Amino acid sequence: MRPGAGGGRRAGAAGGAGGARGRAGARAGAQGAAGAGAGAGAGARARASGAGAAAPEVAAVAAAAAVPAGRGQVLRVRGGARLEGCAPVSGAKNSALALLAASLLCDGEVCIRRVPARLRDVTLMRQVLESVGARVQAGAPGAPGAQGAEEGHAFCVDARALTSARPDAAAVRSLRASILTLAPLLARVGEAEVALPGGCAIGARPVDLHVRGLRALGAEVEVSGGTVRARAPAGGRLRGARVYLDFPSVGATETVLMAAALAEGTTLIENAAQEPEVEDLADFLNAAGGHVAGAGTSTLEIRGAPSLGGCEFTVIPDRIEAGTFLTAAALTYSAVSVAPVMPNHLTAVLAKLEATGCQVGLDGPMRLRLVPPPGGELLRAADVTSLPYPGFPTDMQPQFTALLAGAQGSALVRETVFENRLGHAAELGRMGAQLRQDGSAVMVEGRPPARVPGQSGGGGAGGAHSGLWGASVSARNLREGAALTLAGLAAEGETLVTGVEHIDRGYEGFDEKLRALGADVARLEAGPGPLDMKRPA
Ligand code: EPZ
Repeated sequence: MRPGAGGGRRAGAAGGAGGARGRAGARAGAQGAAGAGAGAGAGARARASGAGAAAPEVAAVAAAAAVPAGRGQVLRVRGGARLEGCAPVSGAKNSALALLAASLLCDGEVCIRRVPARLRDVTLMRQVLESVGARVQAGAPGAPGAQGAEEGHAFCVDARALTSARPDAAAVRSLRASILTLAPLLARVGEAEVALPGGCAIGARPVDLHVRGLRALGAEVEVSGGTVRARAPAGGRLRGARVYLDFPSVGATETVLMAAALAEGTTLIENAAQEPEVEDLADFLNAAGGHVAGAGTSTLEIRGAPSLGGCEFTVIPDRIEAGTFLTAAALTYSAVSVAPVMPNHLTAVLAKLEATGCQVGLDGPMRLRLVPPPGGELLRAADVTSLPYPGFPTDMQPQFTALLAGAQGSALVRETVFENRLGHAAELGRMGAQLRQDGSAVMVEGRPPARVPGQSGGGGAGGAHSGLWGASVSARNLREGAALTLAGLAAEGETLVTGVEHIDRGYEGFDEKLRALGADVARLEAGPGPLDMKRPA
């Protein structure tokens, strides 16, 4: 039933001509010497025509980063609506953040399209890049050269004249992905000092595998006082090496991959992460003149290049955003499409959605359609275990748990990637979900609706799609926020979801896109009183 469409390649390249000169220029600049210009012009570059039109408003960016969007707002969700139409999928957050960090490796301007520019995390990454002297220009959606409005924003980053190897600590601390700037700065400048991102609601999130990987490439790395300080061996270049990762960490794979791209000799990363976002990073590095082989497998081979140049690149669509909207369709018994999407990036998610009785198929190029179980059947429960790719993604586990809370039968959900990613269980419990947590697993006893909404005698307009009821719930992280909103779509009555700022970190216009599908979701300013809500101005 499910298609396995391959993704077209999406890059224009011109990298690597600058060699030692380019790196010397960057190093000089970052270490404060006036030589920054020396690297300019080295390495051919391709400029995304027009992408750089809009002048950067650094002050506005800083202001936007200071007060998280969504803080103090609430999503009011009224359950029972049927969804229809096609949800537009933005560029992948977890790829765009890595590509923006990797642009620091390049001795030429890079233009990255389909960057989900409205995400708070992207705003913060931009601030991190600008704090080390990179020039970032964001073009309006559909900038000249982009292949259409849905291509999103084009970000052009010019990191030829870096001025520092120590990104702004405040911005770094509020964005976990900023750890991804450590390797590019180290490889390009010969040293780097990055604040430790610290833990978050879903786990301690150590960076020991990143550090061990960089040490294997010859770097001196010290972690103290909440900061990682790294220095390349004398002479300035890292050395290729064989690196085995104890766990196929996405971040650690990306760190070693970026460091190896400018290292002397060849690096082998074994037990590497195989996520599509890692593959996208490898494609980007190759577009900029790098030599990466084996992306998408557990063994990466990287032949270091003297330097990387500029390129144009388009980020893959966000498989987690697509999976979230498909799950919203399933738990509201709705037929909905999502596009653009690369179906083969969602194999495990689609398999689980089909196990619940839904059908998923292609209904156009890079477009998937989900239809609910036929003949008025209720959603069936299905066990799920989160695993590194190509296993079921941990970033879809909370949303799928919300679906299971309204399905027929019981299912076991196991979280094996993060040690503390079942916080949504308690919040779903406020909505009447029947869950029993035991360590990193939770048993979900589904509460299905009496009958499938819209079927005779059943729910439908105003009828609930599950046995859950509306409540005030609070999200402490991004995917939890999405899961609670979805549960509200299927519940009887009204749900108020706080912690919207978390949702805005990873979903562009989440509530707008849901409303466009027919959901009754409103974004309200939280007033001083518990239920004192009003629409934002
Ligand atoms: C990336 O995080 C994603 N974030 C996460 O998405 C995603 O959940 C995760 O990969 C897994 O798919 C970005 O890409 C920005 P890991 P990352 O390193 O790189 C442990 C979302 O919702 N570990 O693969 O931080 C770690 O503690 C976010 O969009 C070490 O022990 O994930 C975790 O338990 C959330 N030591 C496990 O590995 C290390 O040095 C997986 O982490 C590194 C990781």
